[in-house]
Amino acid sequence: MTTSALDEWAALEKRGLDELQGCTDEAALRAWHTRYFGDKGEVPAMLRKVSTLPPNERKAFGQTGNVVKTKLTEAYDLALANAKEAALQASLSAHPLDVTLPGRPVPRGRLHVATQVMRQIYGIFADMGFQVYRSREVEDDETNFGLLNMPPHHPARDMWDTFHTTTPGVLLRTHTSPGQIHVMREFCPHPIRAVLPGMCFRFEQVTTRSEMQFEQVEGLVVGPQVTMADLIGTITAFARRLFGQERQIRIRSSYFPFTEPSIEVDIDWPKDDPNADRLTKGTGWLEIMGAGMVHPVVLRNGGYDPQQVSGFAFGLGPQRITMLKHAIDDIRQFWANDLRFLQQF
Ligand code: PHE
Repeated sequence: MTTSALDEWAALEKRGLDELQGCTDEAALRAWHTRYFGDKGEVPAMLRKVSTLPPNERKAFGQTGNVVKTKLTEAYDLALANAKEAALQASLSAHPLDVTLPGRPVPRGRLHVATQVMRQIYGIFADMGFQVYRSREVEDDETNFGLLNMPPHHPARDMWDTFHTTTPGVLLRTHTSPGQIHVMREFCPHPIRAVLPGMCFRFEQVTTRSEMQFEQVEGLVVGPQVTMADLIGTITAFARRLFGQERQIRIRSSYFPFTEPSIEVDIDWPKDDPNADRLTKGTGWLEIMGAGMVHPVVLRNGGYDPQQVSGFAFGLGPQRITMLKHAIDDIRQFWANDLRFLQQF
């Protein structure tokens, strides 16, 4: 064996290790690796020399080559790991991490104030045995008016300025009362205790007190011997749960085509509230809903026999109630989507 071939390996090993020493960062190390182990690198080039040697020397040359290759590779892996660790340490000390700092807050959504109050209302009625019934927002003329005892051209239809669609007889419901027909037809002949919440639409001038879209919560109770006393008791219990046990309610006679008799319900407003005068226009009372005993015609349209059962119904405006609770002075805020408003609740 010529020693020169093996010496070449020894020289290559020494040079490789020396140069590795001089590589101070990852990029330099990777360049080193290409230089020695890449396709055109020194180690493959050296291995190719095996074919130029006499056959009896080839084995020792190859074995030595493999030993050198392993040594260089191990040295490289170690140097690379050290360089990465050093880079990490350097970055940590350059940008110190204070693990005691409070975390960045994750922005959390919340329920819209209207939804919060709706849920509170459902909760109060649920305690009194009412279930929630969803009814459609796009209605037909017949259910929004006709079956509620307002035939075409009935002057009472003027109480609701209506959005009609381009399809004749199809409109956006002006109140949640048509839901009474749907719930009765679904549950007849069983007794009913339900609240029917949802959006209503009126073709009205938009002001701080009226919107063209707003929510209502309809209530309907149908069963044997349901009386006006039940209506008043239910409303009183509701108002006291929502506004406080000392609240009084006041009943005024009113008119709706689908209830007979019909009433409007006010609650007294605390006199010590600085907004009391403005809210109640100086009367001390604030209207919160329309209500009454379900008209026999409506009961019949729902499938019930008015000789056998009676019922009461009410319709309240949760936005009005929310405005009272939170001293909100402009109803248009509810659907304006202004975060400055929404984030307050
Ligand atoms: N639907 C009526 C309105 O929108 C309110 C109401 C509901 C009155 C139920 C009586 C009974 O004005």
